Amino acid sequence: MQKKFYLTEKLPPYIFAEIYELKQQAIADGKEIIDFGMGNPDSAPPQNVMEELSKLALDPKLYGYSVTGGIEFLKKAIVEFYHRRFGVELDYKKEALVTIGAKEGIASLASAISDSQNYICVPSPSYPIHTFAFAISKSNTKHIQAFSANEFLQKFKSLVENEHHKPQAVIVSYPCNPTTEIADISFYEELVDFCRKYQIYIISDIAYCELYFSTKDKPHSILEIKGAKDIAIEFYSVSKSYSLAGTRVGFALGNRNLISALYKIKSYLDYGSFTPLQMIAGLALSSKNDIYLENLRKLYQERGEFFVKNFAQELSWHIDKPKASMFCWTKLPHQFVNLSSFDFCKKMILEAGIAMSPGSSFGENGEGYVRFSMIQNQQDIAKASERLRKVFSFKI
Ligand SMILES: Cc1ncc(COP(=O)(O)O)c(C=O)c1O
Repeated sequence: MQKKFYLTEKLPPYIFAEIYELKQQAIADGKEIIDFGMGNPDSAPPQNVMEELSKLALDPKLYGYSVTGGIEFLKKAIVEFYHRRFGVELDYKKEALVTIGAKEGIASLASAISDSQNYICVPSPSYPIHTFAFAISKSNTKHIQAFSANEFLQKFKSLVENEHHKPQAVIVSYPCNPTTEIADISFYEELVDFCRKYQIYIISDIAYCELYFSTKDKPHSILEIKGAKDIAIEFYSVSKSYSLAGTRVGFALGNRNLISALYKIKSYLDYGSFTPLQMIAGLALSSKNDIYLENLRKLYQERGEFFVKNFAQELSWHIDKPKASMFCWTKLPHQFVNLSSFDFCKKMILEAGIAMSPGSSFGENGEGYVRFSMIQNQQDIAKASERLRKVFSFKI
């Protein structure tokens, strides 16, 4: 009987899972871990959302299958939200779908549109599913090594202009996980203009778009650009904005052709997230929770600033202030540049009890970097730098 399978053999191990295993082993060995690894929000969701869920949970009628592509209430709520937040008009019946988180949406879209004759352009570093959704669907990806949005755009344009065979689609995701880079409106204008000319689909993922730290950096939706709907689909999520990652609710919005392809695939695969979870996601998106977003931004900004200051003072480790998102992204400290980012993270778990994500998990261009999630309070950030100092001091 076959023991090894083509796809699972071809896929590299999911580095986050390996780090998770190491962390769990350390905990089982009695170590206390301060975890900056996964971007898993530690804040409570809005109070009104939790209260509503506790009421809905008692309604026996809500426990059946939900609806492929989402309940009408939630599709209307996201369309209203896009209008209020971005000034974008969408038809909730044809230009909006609810997904089981943005991650599932991207993966399902990849299986809907992939074929072995085509390829997708993906930034490196980038959130792993941007590459692996297509690898799993047996499509091809071309990585564009770029940190800033503009570097990516210029390299992408030059690749397309010089290739006879044009890509089927390009992925962009700003604020970026892991780099925290942001994109301004002129970036989207130029990208849409270029992709319309060459008839290339754009897949935009704005999972972190509410986590910005200055109004001048407030992220945009690609759908704000005139004509974007002709070629662009965008993924939005309540996971990070409203600390609702466990609900598994995300959205796909924009191009009707891609939305209908995504719907078709999903109609074979799922019946949507649990209805009460969709209902509370709709409630989260209402303007009543704008104050929640403000407080969350403040929390991540304060943690990020404290983290950067504390690590500079305690460890002489220079880390740039994050521009947005819930992460800090930085090069390995100079004492450890001879280690791979994975080996550095392993060492920090085993010797300091500190978990973080290796840059290599975001693509080869992320090697030499690490990412910290700002999911610990200032007291634990200070405790972490104290522990790291002891490990670092052997190397100084
Ligand atoms: C860029 C990006 N997109 C999407 C997701 C996943 O979003 P969701 O929880 O809606 O699947 C993440 C999670 O870390 C992410 O970093």
